[in-house]
Amino acid sequence: MRVARLDAPDDFDGWRDAARALAVEGVPADRVIWQVAGHANDLFAAEPEVAPPPEPALAAFRVPRTFVDLARDVVLHSDRERFAMLYSLLLRLRDQPRLIDDRADPLRRKLEEMAKSVRRDIHKMRAFLRFREVTDDAGERFVAWFEPEHHIVRANAAFFVNRFNTMRWSILTPEVSLHWDTETLSEGPGAVAADAPDGDPIEAVWKTYYASIFNPARLKVGAMLREMPRKYWKNMPETALVGELVAGARARETAMIETARSTTGGNIEGAWAALRDEAAGCTRCPLYRPATQTVFGEGPLDAAIMFVGEQPGDQEDLAGRPFVGPAGQMFDRALGEAGIDRASVYVTNAVKHFKFEPRGKRRIHAKPDAGEIDACRWWIEQERMLLTPRLTVALGATAARSLTGQTVTISRERGRVLTLADGTSGFITVHPSFLLRIPDSVRAGEEYRRFVEDLRSVRDTIV
Ligand code: URA
Repeated sequence: MRVARLDAPDDFDGWRDAARALAVEGVPADRVIWQVAGHANDLFAAEPEVAPPPEPALAAFRVPRTFVDLARDVVLHSDRERFAMLYSLLLRLRDQPRLIDDRADPLRRKLEEMAKSVRRDIHKMRAFLRFREVTDDAGERFVAWFEPEHHIVRANAAFFVNRFNTMRWSILTPEVSLHWDTETLSEGPGAVAADAPDGDPIEAVWKTYYASIFNPARLKVGAMLREMPRKYWKNMPETALVGELVAGARARETAMIETARSTTGGNIEGAWAALRDEAAGCTRCPLYRPATQTVFGEGPLDAAIMFVGEQPGDQEDLAGRPFVGPAGQMFDRALGEAGIDRASVYVTNAVKHFKFEPRGKRRIHAKPDAGEIDACRWWIEQERMLLTPRLTVALGATAARSLTGQTVTISRERGRVLTLADGTSGFITVHPSFLLRIPDSVRAGEEYRRFVEDLRSVRDTIV
């Protein structure tokens, strides 16, 4: 047996040097015991430590960069077998360098999962650690307690030094403590939760800050809960407010709309314009980046029917208005044949930014995914709450998903009035672009007539 001794549980350099030396010597993975200083788990190990290999052999042994990056993360994992597992993969990579790209290999896959878990833990520490203020001889000091899952504290030190550079702070964790005095970072022993102070003035600062930035228009409860696992909530003063804020958000929206209604003598234009202006700056999903602008709904605010399309197309993105391109022209024609005046209905989209893939000079429509539809649902819900149309018509699958929250088979659900989850009436039909894409002219004609029939049903529902 050979013993490789590492200075600390996150000693990547120590592992790399030892692993390289062992691999150059050709020591098999099951002949190595990995020992971490202060963690006397292999007391029977007696053979000498690994000596550094001669330089030429070292130079002759190369591993893919991806492996080094993977190993850097995996070394921080809490699994005691991590060093041995990495060493096994390293040995196999010598003969099969392409193994690093083989996602089907069980060991490779397991190590990738471990690396992911480490990266998540690093992110959690950055996102959820909270300082409490104390006063010591030198004045103000900020102290935080955090319990990571893996050995990530040192790997995160530079982040906290950069972020809180001018504050004197200590981060206490069970394994190690970090102390920053605005110039030097030092390390101390692990701590227990009781060593960290409880509630204090910085909590009030956080709470005030959090409540002031808490805009119901940005409320994403699902994401908030996903990103803030409950385990961390006990150390986060602002989470005491979350339930209250979530519960209050609906009431505040309603109040906002009511205020707008009453202050404008029943005219909702002010509230609608405020909503449209807010949507113009929407960054709830990445689609706003390449798009020219938010394309908000338009039409009379007292319309009995609200039509919901998928997302603006190329022409809508440039014009800033919904359904003005080829699909819009087809839609207008069908509306006319069904006896519905476009000027009498409100027309909007489930997703308010144009999603596309550039191809040369052209921008090719790309379907919004479930996350983008869900992120944008906030706006359509506001539009519906404000306008209270008697019937909301989903044009195609994206709009149907946005309205129902579920994947909908259009052929099964089209053509009849449905009761939506909020008790209002909905109707599902095809999207006009579907008609434009049918290559066979006979079938296209038939489908167009079916679409007009659906629109006639819509008209009949509200007269
Ligand atoms: N397709 C849509 O769904 N909406 C538009 O505004 C234009 C095309």
